Amino acid sequence: MKKQQSIKLQYNEYTSLNSLLKVDQKLLYKAIEAAKNAYAPYSDFKVGSAIQMMNGSVVIGSNQENAAYPSGLCAERVALFSASANHPEEEMHTIAVFAEKDLGYDEPVSPCGACRQVMMEYELKQARKLRVLLMGSSGKVWEFESVSSLLPFAFIFKPQKSS
Ligand code: THU
Repeated sequence: MKKQQSIKLQYNEYTSLNSLLKVDQKLLYKAIEAAKNAYAPYSDFKVGSAIQMMNGSVVIGSNQENAAYPSGLCAERVALFSASANHPEEEMHTIAVFAEKDLGYDEPVSPCGACRQVMMEYELKQARKLRVLLMGSSGKVWEFESVSSLLPFAFIFKPQKSS
């Protein structure tokens, strides 16, 4: 049977940081700051990420590369894993991502598939939407209310509890 579904993606676009709420501006500034700690000697592409936790704390991450290329990790996953490792019971409210290099197009940086998958898992785990804010060097910001808007047909696996 042939199936067809239209995928509707909803997000807000802001032309600059100043159009956002103060709390989101602050978070994006933390992502901008975090990008300075990126270790990206191979790609020279520095990315910063900042996660606003429900308890008010902010966890940051930046991409960390390695001579054995696949061993490196994106800024988003550095922040997500750090947040979960340090605050395992705390929910995540918003993840902000910033890439400082000109991407060659006038759009915010967009997370890779692996980072979307990891974001999705934490969204499902906490049963609360994880907001995503994306920003590129042009200053334009995209706001997604949920990771599910970034990853339709995500891989989901619910481990059976062994008796
Ligand atoms: N990178 C991120 O950290 N986040 C993204 O959203 C896109 C790509 C990193 C991975 C690698 O260190 C460098 O940027 C070039 O791909």
